[in-house]
Amino acid sequence: MPGVAGQAGLCGHPLKQRKTGGAVGVCVRTVRWMTCLSPLGYLLAIEGAALLRGFREGSADRAFVETRIAEIRALLDTPALAQAEGVTASPGTISVTDVYRSWAPHYDAPGNQMIDIEQPVVRRILDGLPVGTALDAACGTGRHTTYLRELGHDVIGVDVSPDMLAQARKRLPDVAFHEADLHRLPLPDDAVDTVVCALALTHVPDLAPVLAEFARVLRPGGSLVISDAHLLVSYLRPTLARRPGPDGRPSLLTEHHRPLSAYLAAALPLGFQVRQCEEPRRPRHSLDPETAPDPLPAHMSWDLLHWCPEVSAAALDDSPIAVVWHFQLDGVRKAEQPER
Ligand SMILES: C[S@@+](CC[C@H](N)C(=O)[O-])C[C@H]1O[C@@H](n2cnc3c(N)ncnc32)[C@H](O)[C@@H]1O
Repeated sequence: MPGVAGQAGLCGHPLKQRKTGGAVGVCVRTVRWMTCLSPLGYLLAIEGAALLRGFREGSADRAFVETRIAEIRALLDTPALAQAEGVTASPGTISVTDVYRSWAPHYDAPGNQMIDIEQPVVRRILDGLPVGTALDAACGTGRHTTYLRELGHDVIGVDVSPDMLAQARKRLPDVAFHEADLHRLPLPDDAVDTVVCALALTHVPDLAPVLAEFARVLRPGGSLVISDAHLLVSYLRPTLARRPGPDGRPSLLTEHHRPLSAYLAAALPLGFQVRQCEEPRRPRHSLDPETAPDPLPAHMSWDLLHWCPEVSAAALDDSPIAVVWHFQLDGVRKAEQPER
């Protein structure tokens, strides 16, 4: 939590001096096309989320409730937070390629909690698949491409971001990486045995055309492994990034979080069958005050949570952070399938 150096923080650890100007913040108030990113608003929202969860799960005893209320008072009385006005930004005016341009060099560096939780689940599914030709769709820096390669697959990587692809090419110089969109994969029909699409569908407004592309390039009986941010994350995680948009004003990347039924509604009519669906959870006590960055980072306001680990844990620990699907395409050749 931003504050004055030496002051005690809400959970007893010293607050760190905020050294940069400009506000850090997250979504608190959406008024049609503008979102006010306020650090104080976000921290109050996390307090509220912890209370609501405690009421529902039976962990909100009197001491818990009184502690939250005291913390809310302390937050409201923290001058640094009161002075941090936040930023008002327009969603949807910045592109995926712009966002990943600056994220590419450190996207999969240690400390990305989503990756830490998603990766073992995806790998476990990949471990059980027959080795063949695999497409890493929206491959980014080649995280899963590398693993597919280690498993012995012939791999192809596709991504729309030249900067993420540059990292992937550095990592795997002899793999074919293509700059292309998920809606128009540069592959013929029935070209691959496995498609992996990890943590990317949140950027896609409509699942159906993208899953249809996956079905087109997959051979009959092929596997589609998808991971995505969980719907619950969209309520509790601050928005991904705020950067200057084309007009130089703060801009937010639009993200699309969806219920599990949306994946089924898109996949089943294409001939995919569900083989597995997992919702890995955030571990307990995953936020360490010692890892709170100093100063507060300007872009990922998620890091605000490290400044109040106790309430963040009450709100977030053991809640699903991702969804991982294993779909398998019908074994019959597509041309031979009866009319659905
Ligand atoms: C969070 S990263 C995930 C990268 C990689 N799959 C992983 O899990 O490490 C999301 C990636 O999706 C890519 N992406 C987003 N929308 C895309 C689209 N329509 N077509 C191709 N790639 C896209 C981005 O460029 C970015 O590299």
